[in-house]
Amino acid sequence: MPITQFREIIPATRLENVRYAIRDLASVADRVIAQGHKVLCLNVGDPNIFDFQTPPHLIEAVYKAMRDGKNGYAPSAGIPEAISAIRGEAARKGISSVLDVFVTSGASESVDICLTSLLNPGDNILTPCPDYPLYSAVLAKLGIGLNPYYLNEDDGWQPELDDIKRKITPRTRGIVLINPNNPTGSVCSRAMLEQIAELAREHNLVIFSDEIYDKLMLDGDECISMAAVAPDVPVVTFGGMSKNFLAPGWRLGWSILSGDAAIIKPYIEGVHKLLRSRLSANHPEQYAIKVALEGPQEHLVEFCNKLRRRRDITMKYCNSIPHMSCVSPRGAFYAFPKLDISEEDETFVKELILQKHVMVVHGSGFGEKPGTKHFRIVFLPDEQTLTRAYEALGEFMQERYR
Ligand SMILES: Cc1ncc(COP(=O)(O)O)c(C=O)c1O
Repeated sequence: MPITQFREIIPATRLENVRYAIRDLASVADRVIAQGHKVLCLNVGDPNIFDFQTPPHLIEAVYKAMRDGKNGYAPSAGIPEAISAIRGEAARKGISSVLDVFVTSGASESVDICLTSLLNPGDNILTPCPDYPLYSAVLAKLGIGLNPYYLNEDDGWQPELDDIKRKITPRTRGIVLINPNNPTGSVCSRAMLEQIAELAREHNLVIFSDEIYDKLMLDGDECISMAAVAPDVPVVTFGGMSKNFLAPGWRLGWSILSGDAAIIKPYIEGVHKLLRSRLSANHPEQYAIKVALEGPQEHLVEFCNKLRRRRDITMKYCNSIPHMSCVSPRGAFYAFPKLDISEEDETFVKELILQKHVMVVHGSGFGEKPGTKHFRIVFLPDEQTLTRAYEALGEFMQERYR
Protein backbone atom coordinates (compact mmCIF):
# COMPACT_ATOMS: atom_id res chain seq x y z
CA MET A 1 0.00 0.00 0.00
CA PRO A 2 1.47 3.43 -0.90
CA ILE A 3 1.78 5.87 1.99
CA THR A 4 -1.07 8.31 1.59
CA GLN A 5 -0.21 11.95 0.86
CA PHE A 6 -3.75 13.13 1.48
CA ARG A 7 -4.56 15.89 3.91
CA GLU A 8 -7.95 16.30 5.55
CA ILE A 9 -10.61 17.30 2.99
CA ILE A 10 -12.12 20.59 4.15
CA PRO A 11 -15.51 21.62 2.75
CA ALA A 12 -15.92 25.00 1.02
CA THR A 13 -16.21 27.98 3.36
CA ARG A 14 -19.41 29.02 1.59
CA LEU A 15 -21.13 26.16 3.44
CA GLU A 16 -20.64 27.95 6.76
CA ASN A 17 -23.91 29.80 6.21
CA VAL A 18 -25.93 26.66 5.51
CA ARG A 19 -28.19 26.11 8.51
CA TYR A 20 -29.73 22.74 9.20
CA ALA A 21 -31.39 22.97 12.58
CA ILE A 22 -32.62 19.39 12.64
CA ARG A 23 -29.12 17.91 12.39
CA ASP A 24 -28.07 18.90 15.90
CA LEU A 25 -31.36 17.68 17.30
CA ALA A 26 -31.05 14.29 15.63
CA SER A 27 -28.06 13.37 17.80
CA VAL A 28 -30.02 14.32 20.94
CA ALA A 29 -32.98 12.21 19.77
CA ASP A 30 -30.63 9.29 19.01
CA ARG A 31 -29.45 9.35 22.63
CA VAL A 32 -33.04 9.14 23.86
CA ILE A 33 -33.86 6.33 21.43
CA ALA A 34 -30.71 4.42 22.52
CA GLN A 35 -32.11 4.51 26.08
CA GLY A 36 -35.16 2.62 24.78
CA HIS A 37 -37.62 5.54 24.56
CA LYS A 38 -39.93 6.37 21.69
CA VAL A 39 -39.60 9.96 20.46
CA LEU A 40 -42.78 11.80 19.42
CA CYS A 41 -41.70 13.53 16.21
CA LEU A 42 -43.37 16.87 15.61
CA ASN A 43 -40.48 18.07 13.51
CA VAL A 44 -40.76 16.56 10.01
CA GLY A 45 -42.87 18.11 7.24
CA ASP A 46 -43.44 14.84 5.37
CA PRO A 47 -47.16 13.89 5.45
CA ASN A 48 -46.43 10.37 4.19
CA ILE A 49 -44.73 9.28 7.40
CA PHE A 50 -48.01 9.98 9.22
CA ASP A 51 -51.56 8.88 8.34
CA PHE A 52 -51.62 10.38 4.85
CA GLN A 53 -51.08 8.45 1.63
CA THR A 54 -50.48 9.36 -1.98
CA PRO A 55 -53.84 9.14 -3.83
CA PRO A 56 -53.96 5.72 -5.60
CA HIS A 57 -54.94 7.18 -8.99
CA LEU A 58 -51.66 9.11 -9.04
CA ILE A 59 -49.68 5.96 -8.28
CA GLU A 60 -51.52 4.18 -11.12
CA ALA A 61 -50.56 6.95 -13.55
CA VAL A 62 -46.87 6.50 -12.68
CA TYR A 63 -47.06 2.69 -12.96
CA LYS A 64 -48.71 3.03 -16.34
CA ALA A 65 -46.03 5.44 -17.54
CA MET A 66 -43.33 3.00 -16.45
CA ARG A 67 -45.07 0.08 -18.16
CA ASP A 68 -45.49 2.22 -21.28
CA GLY A 69 -41.74 2.68 -21.42
CA LYS A 70 -41.50 6.30 -20.23
CA ASN A 71 -38.24 5.45 -18.53
CA GLY A 72 -35.75 7.50 -20.51
CA TYR A 73 -34.97 11.17 -19.91
CA ALA A 74 -37.87 13.57 -20.18
CA PRO A 75 -37.63 16.85 -22.12
CA SER A 76 -35.57 19.23 -19.95
CA ALA A 77 -38.53 21.54 -19.23
CA GLY A 78 -40.92 18.64 -18.58
CA ILE A 79 -43.35 16.54 -20.63
CA PRO A 80 -45.84 18.56 -22.72
CA GLU A 81 -48.96 17.17 -21.01
CA ALA A 82 -47.63 18.14 -17.56
CA ILE A 83 -46.68 21.63 -18.75
CA SER A 84 -50.11 22.11 -20.26
CA ALA A 85 -51.80 20.88 -17.03
CA ILE A 86 -49.70 23.32 -14.96
CA ARG A 87 -50.74 26.13 -17.33
CA GLY A 88 -54.34 25.10 -16.67
CA GLU A 89 -53.67 25.21 -12.93
CA ALA A 90 -52.12 28.68 -13.31
CA ALA A 91 -55.31 29.84 -15.03
CA ARG A 92 -57.40 28.43 -12.15
CA LYS A 93 -55.16 30.35 -9.75
CA GLY A 94 -56.02 33.50 -11.69
CA ILE A 95 -52.58 33.92 -13.27
CA SER A 96 -53.32 35.45 -16.66
CA SER A 97 -49.86 36.46 -17.88
CA VAL A 98 -48.06 33.09 -17.93
CA LEU A 99 -44.92 33.20 -20.05
CA ASP A 100 -43.26 29.91 -19.22
CA VAL A 101 -43.73 26.73 -17.19
CA PHE A 102 -41.19 24.05 -16.37
CA VAL A 103 -40.97 20.91 -14.25
CA THR A 104 -38.13 20.25 -11.81
CA SER A 105 -36.94 17.74 -9.20
CA GLY A 106 -39.16 19.12 -6.47
CA ALA A 107 -39.89 22.79 -5.95
CA SER A 108 -36.41 22.74 -4.37
CA GLU A 109 -34.74 22.46 -7.77
CA SER A 110 -36.97 25.24 -9.12
CA VAL A 111 -35.75 27.49 -6.30
CA ASP A 112 -32.14 26.57 -6.99
CA ILE A 113 -32.37 27.07 -10.76
CA CYS A 114 -34.38 30.31 -10.57
CA LEU A 115 -32.12 31.98 -8.00
CA THR A 116 -28.95 30.75 -9.72
CA SER A 117 -30.18 32.13 -13.05
CA LEU A 118 -30.78 35.58 -11.57
CA LEU A 119 -28.09 36.49 -9.08
CA ASN A 120 -24.57 37.82 -9.63
CA PRO A 121 -21.93 38.23 -6.91
CA GLY A 122 -22.79 41.37 -4.92
CA ASP A 123 -26.52 41.11 -5.68
CA ASN A 124 -28.96 40.37 -2.91
CA ILE A 125 -32.46 39.05 -2.57
CA LEU A 126 -34.92 39.60 0.27
CA THR A 127 -35.91 36.43 2.10
CA PRO A 128 -38.42 36.09 4.95
CA CYS A 129 -37.27 35.77 8.54
CA PRO A 130 -38.19 33.24 9.84
CA ASP A 131 -37.68 31.32 6.60
CA TYR A 132 -37.66 27.86 5.11
CA PRO A 133 -33.91 27.09 5.19
CA LEU A 134 -33.69 26.00 1.53
CA TYR A 135 -33.48 29.64 0.44
CA SER A 136 -30.55 30.55 2.66
CA ALA A 137 -28.82 27.29 1.67
CA VAL A 138 -29.10 28.06 -2.06
CA LEU A 139 -27.91 31.63 -1.47
CA ALA A 140 -24.97 30.35 0.58
CA LYS A 141 -24.07 28.04 -2.30
CA LEU A 142 -24.11 31.00 -4.66
CA GLY A 143 -22.00 33.08 -2.29
CA ILE A 144 -24.83 35.61 -1.91
CA GLY A 145 -25.19 37.20 1.54
CA LEU A 146 -28.56 37.02 3.28
CA ASN A 147 -30.88 40.04 3.24
CA PRO A 148 -33.72 38.88 5.50
CA TYR A 149 -36.92 40.85 6.11
CA TYR A 150 -39.06 40.20 9.15
CA LEU A 151 -42.47 38.65 9.33
CA ASN A 152 -44.52 40.49 11.95
CA GLU A 153 -45.87 38.19 14.65
CA ASP A 154 -48.15 40.97 15.96
CA ASP A 155 -49.76 41.16 12.53
CA GLY A 156 -50.42 37.41 12.13
CA TRP A 157 -46.91 36.90 10.70
CA GLN A 158 -47.59 39.09 7.63
CA PRO A 159 -44.43 40.47 5.97
CA GLU A 160 -43.24 43.66 7.67
CA LEU A 161 -43.53 46.13 4.83
CA ASP A 162 -41.43 48.89 6.42
CA ASP A 163 -38.64 46.42 7.05
CA ILE A 164 -38.75 45.34 3.39
CA LYS A 165 -38.53 49.01 2.32
CA ARG A 166 -35.59 49.62 4.64
CA LYS A 167 -33.68 46.65 3.30
CA ILE A 168 -34.00 47.24 -0.43
CA THR A 169 -30.61 48.32 -1.82
CA PRO A 170 -29.51 49.21 -5.36
CA ARG A 171 -28.31 45.61 -5.68
CA THR A 172 -31.57 43.97 -4.54
CA ARG A 173 -32.87 41.84 -7.41
CA GLY A 174 -35.86 40.10 -5.91
CA ILE A 175 -37.99 39.13 -2.98
CA VAL A 176 -39.04 35.69 -1.75
CA LEU A 177 -42.53 35.18 -0.39
CA ILE A 178 -43.62 31.89 1.18
CA ASN A 179 -47.40 31.79 1.05
CA PRO A 180 -48.84 29.81 2.88
CA ASN A 181 -45.82 30.04 5.08
CA ASN A 182 -43.40 27.52 6.51
CA PRO A 183 -42.70 27.82 9.51
CA THR A 184 -45.55 30.12 10.66
CA GLY A 185 -48.62 28.83 8.76
CA SER A 186 -49.57 32.41 7.87
CA VAL A 187 -51.28 33.35 4.62
CA CYS A 188 -50.69 36.69 2.88
CA SER A 189 -53.61 39.08 2.58
CA ARG A 190 -54.51 40.56 -0.80
CA ALA A 191 -53.63 44.04 0.51
CA MET A 192 -50.17 42.82 1.51
CA LEU A 193 -49.60 41.18 -1.89
CA GLU A 194 -50.60 44.42 -3.61
CA GLN A 195 -48.19 46.46 -1.52
CA ILE A 196 -45.30 44.06 -2.15
CA ALA A 197 -46.09 44.12 -5.88
CA GLU A 198 -45.93 47.91 -5.78
CA LEU A 199 -42.45 47.76 -4.22
CA ALA A 200 -41.38 45.30 -6.93
CA ARG A 201 -42.56 47.79 -9.58
CA GLU A 202 -40.70 50.67 -7.93
CA HIS A 203 -37.44 48.76 -7.53
CA ASN A 204 -37.47 46.43 -10.55
CA LEU A 205 -37.64 43.25 -8.44
CA VAL A 206 -38.52 39.69 -9.40
CA ILE A 207 -40.96 38.13 -6.92
CA PHE A 208 -40.46 34.46 -6.06
CA SER A 209 -43.75 33.26 -4.66
CA ASP A 210 -43.48 29.83 -3.05
CA GLU A 211 -47.05 28.52 -3.08
CA ILE A 212 -46.28 24.85 -2.52
CA TYR A 213 -48.97 24.66 0.23
CA ASP A 214 -51.64 26.60 -1.68
CA LYS A 215 -54.31 23.86 -1.47
CA LEU A 216 -53.79 23.27 2.26
CA MET A 217 -55.95 26.14 3.48
CA LEU A 218 -57.44 25.49 6.90
CA ASP A 219 -60.24 28.04 7.19
CA GLY A 220 -62.01 27.49 3.90
CA ASP A 221 -60.66 30.62 2.22
CA GLU A 222 -58.50 30.63 -0.89
CA CYS A 223 -54.80 31.25 -1.19
CA ILE A 224 -54.42 34.36 -3.35
CA SER A 225 -51.62 34.03 -5.83
CA MET A 226 -49.15 36.91 -6.07
CA ALA A 227 -48.99 36.48 -9.86
CA ALA A 228 -52.78 36.87 -10.08
CA VAL A 229 -52.66 40.12 -8.13
CA ALA A 230 -49.75 41.50 -10.17
CA PRO A 231 -49.91 40.24 -13.77
CA ASP A 232 -47.46 42.92 -14.96
CA VAL A 233 -44.77 42.11 -12.37
CA PRO A 234 -42.12 39.42 -13.03
CA VAL A 235 -43.24 36.60 -10.73
CA VAL A 236 -41.98 33.04 -10.42
CA THR A 237 -44.60 30.90 -8.70
CA PHE A 238 -43.34 27.65 -7.20
CA GLY A 239 -45.61 24.62 -6.78
CA GLY A 240 -45.33 20.86 -6.71
CA MET A 241 -46.51 17.38 -5.85
CA SER A 242 -44.88 17.07 -2.42
CA LYS A 243 -47.50 18.62 -0.17
CA ASN A 244 -50.85 19.13 -1.97
CA PHE A 245 -50.61 15.72 -3.63
CA LEU A 246 -48.83 13.77 -0.91
CA ALA A 247 -45.94 12.57 -3.06
CA PRO A 248 -42.79 14.20 -1.65
CA GLY A 249 -40.59 11.24 -2.58
CA TRP A 250 -41.39 11.61 -6.26
CA ARG A 251 -39.40 14.83 -6.26
CA LEU A 252 -41.60 16.78 -8.63
CA GLY A 253 -42.14 20.50 -8.56
CA TRP A 254 -42.60 23.31 -11.02
CA SER A 255 -42.24 27.00 -11.76
CA ILE A 256 -44.74 29.30 -13.44
CA LEU A 257 -43.09 32.45 -14.83
CA SER A 258 -45.42 35.35 -15.44
CA GLY A 259 -45.25 39.06 -16.17
CA ASP A 260 -44.35 41.23 -19.13
CA ALA A 261 -42.77 39.15 -21.92
CA ALA A 262 -40.38 41.87 -23.11
CA ILE A 263 -38.88 42.18 -19.62
CA ILE A 264 -38.60 38.53 -18.65
CA LYS A 265 -37.47 36.97 -21.95
CA PRO A 266 -33.70 37.06 -21.31
CA TYR A 267 -34.19 35.63 -17.81
CA ILE A 268 -36.30 32.76 -19.19
CA GLU A 269 -33.55 31.98 -21.69
CA GLY A 270 -31.04 31.83 -18.83
CA VAL A 271 -33.28 29.51 -16.83
CA HIS A 272 -33.61 27.14 -19.81
CA LYS A 273 -29.83 26.99 -20.21
CA LEU A 274 -29.64 25.58 -16.69
CA LEU A 275 -32.64 23.29 -17.24
CA ARG A 276 -30.92 21.74 -20.25
CA SER A 277 -27.64 21.31 -18.39
CA ARG A 278 -29.23 19.01 -15.78
CA LEU A 279 -31.14 16.92 -18.40
CA SER A 280 -34.60 16.44 -16.83
CA ALA A 281 -36.73 15.88 -13.76
CA ASN A 282 -37.95 12.34 -13.00
CA HIS A 283 -39.77 11.14 -16.08
CA PRO A 284 -42.48 8.55 -15.27
CA GLU A 285 -43.68 10.51 -12.21
CA GLN A 286 -44.46 13.48 -14.45
CA TYR A 287 -47.39 11.51 -15.88
CA ALA A 288 -49.13 11.98 -12.53
CA ILE A 289 -49.13 15.79 -12.80
CA LYS A 290 -52.06 16.10 -15.21
CA VAL A 291 -54.02 13.47 -13.27
CA ALA A 292 -53.28 15.29 -10.01
CA LEU A 293 -54.24 18.75 -11.24
CA GLU A 294 -57.25 17.76 -13.33
CA GLY A 295 -58.51 14.56 -11.65
CA PRO A 296 -60.42 13.91 -8.41
CA GLN A 297 -59.44 16.16 -5.50
CA GLU A 298 -61.21 14.25 -2.68
CA HIS A 299 -57.99 13.56 -0.79
CA LEU A 300 -57.66 17.30 -0.20
CA VAL A 301 -60.97 17.46 1.65
CA GLU A 302 -59.89 14.70 4.05
CA PHE A 303 -56.37 16.13 4.32
CA CYS A 304 -57.58 19.63 5.21
CA ASN A 305 -60.24 18.32 7.63
CA LYS A 306 -57.61 16.35 9.54
CA LEU A 307 -55.23 19.30 9.49
CA ARG A 308 -57.92 21.67 10.76
CA ARG A 309 -58.66 19.41 13.77
CA ARG A 310 -54.96 19.02 14.46
CA ARG A 311 -54.40 22.76 14.16
CA ASP A 312 -57.23 23.39 16.62
CA ILE A 313 -55.78 20.95 19.19
CA THR A 314 -52.38 22.58 18.71
CA MET A 315 -53.83 26.04 19.33
CA LYS A 316 -55.77 24.90 22.40
CA TYR A 317 -52.56 23.76 24.07
CA CYS A 318 -50.20 26.45 22.76
CA ASN A 319 -52.43 29.23 24.01
CA SER A 320 -53.09 27.72 27.44
CA ILE A 321 -49.69 26.34 28.48
CA PRO A 322 -47.84 28.96 30.58
CA HIS A 323 -45.02 30.97 28.92
CA MET A 324 -46.32 30.14 25.46
CA SER A 325 -48.58 31.77 22.87
CA CYS A 326 -49.22 31.13 19.21
CA VAL A 327 -50.68 32.88 16.18
CA SER A 328 -53.19 30.46 14.67
CA PRO A 329 -51.91 29.00 11.37
CA ARG A 330 -54.27 29.45 8.42
CA GLY A 331 -52.48 27.24 5.91
CA ALA A 332 -49.95 24.38 5.62
CA PHE A 333 -49.23 22.24 8.70
CA TYR A 334 -46.87 24.28 10.82
CA ALA A 335 -47.28 26.38 13.96
CA PHE A 336 -44.61 28.70 15.35
CA PRO A 337 -45.35 29.33 19.04
CA LYS A 338 -43.60 32.09 20.94
CA LEU A 339 -41.76 31.25 24.15
CA ASP A 340 -41.55 33.61 27.10
CA ILE A 341 -38.52 32.01 28.78
CA SER A 342 -35.06 33.17 29.74
CA GLU A 343 -32.99 30.38 28.16
CA GLU A 344 -32.30 29.95 24.44
CA ASP A 345 -34.97 28.22 22.38
CA GLU A 346 -32.37 25.66 21.26
CA THR A 347 -31.78 24.66 24.90
CA PHE A 348 -35.55 24.45 25.42
CA VAL A 349 -35.91 22.11 22.43
CA LYS A 350 -33.00 19.85 23.43
CA GLU A 351 -34.24 19.55 27.02
CA LEU A 352 -37.74 18.78 25.76
CA ILE A 353 -36.37 15.86 23.76
CA LEU A 354 -34.22 14.61 26.64
CA GLN A 355 -36.85 14.93 29.35
CA LYS A 356 -40.17 14.36 27.58
CA HIS A 357 -39.11 12.69 24.30
CA VAL A 358 -40.95 15.23 22.20
CA MET A 359 -39.13 16.60 19.17
CA VAL A 360 -39.81 20.05 17.72
CA VAL A 361 -37.37 22.50 16.08
CA HIS A 362 -36.04 25.68 17.69
CA GLY A 363 -37.04 29.00 16.14
CA SER A 364 -33.43 30.17 15.88
CA GLY A 365 -32.96 27.40 13.28
CA PHE A 366 -35.28 29.37 10.96
CA GLY A 367 -34.12 32.84 11.94
CA GLU A 368 -36.12 35.08 14.28
CA LYS A 369 -36.11 38.65 15.58
CA PRO A 370 -33.29 39.18 18.10
CA GLY A 371 -34.49 38.63 21.64
CA THR A 372 -37.51 36.54 20.61
CA LYS A 373 -37.78 32.78 21.13
CA HIS A 374 -39.95 30.29 19.27
CA PHE A 375 -40.20 26.70 18.17
CA ARG A 376 -41.79 25.08 15.15
CA ILE A 377 -44.43 22.39 15.50
CA VAL A 378 -45.42 20.14 12.59
CA PHE A 379 -49.00 19.16 13.39
CA LEU A 380 -49.18 16.25 10.94
CA PRO A 381 -49.26 13.45 13.60
CA ASP A 382 -52.66 12.00 14.58
CA GLU A 383 -54.73 13.61 17.31
CA GLN A 384 -53.78 11.07 19.97
CA THR A 385 -50.06 11.54 19.34
CA LEU A 386 -50.41 15.31 19.32
CA THR A 387 -52.36 15.26 22.58
CA ARG A 388 -49.71 13.07 24.24
CA ALA A 389 -46.98 15.39 22.99
CA TYR A 390 -48.78 18.54 24.17
CA GLU A 391 -49.57 17.06 27.60
CA ALA A 392 -45.86 16.28 27.96
CA LEU A 393 -44.99 19.78 26.75
CA GLY A 394 -47.33 21.28 29.36
CA GLU A 395 -45.69 19.22 32.13
CA PHE A 396 -42.25 20.26 30.90
CA MET A 397 -43.16 23.95 30.98
CA GLN A 398 -44.61 23.62 34.49
CA GLU A 399 -41.57 21.78 35.81
CA ARG A 400 -38.88 23.87 34.12
CA TYR A 401 -40.24 27.43 34.12
CA ARG A 402 -42.47 27.48 37.24
C1 LIG B 1 -41.85 26.45 1.70
C2 LIG B 1 -41.30 25.24 1.05
N1 LIG B 1 -40.84 25.31 -0.21
C3 LIG B 1 -40.32 24.26 -0.84
C4 LIG B 1 -40.23 23.03 -0.21
C5 LIG B 1 -39.59 21.88 -0.93
O1 LIG B 1 -40.52 21.26 -1.77
P1 LIG B 1 -40.14 20.03 -2.68
O2 LIG B 1 -40.36 18.79 -1.91
O3 LIG B 1 -41.11 20.14 -3.83
O4 LIG B 1 -38.75 20.20 -3.11
C6 LIG B 1 -40.69 22.89 1.10
C7 LIG B 1 -40.57 21.61 1.81
O5 LIG B 1 -40.84 21.45 2.97
C8 LIG B 1 -41.24 24.03 1.75
O6 LIG B 1 -41.68 23.96 3.00
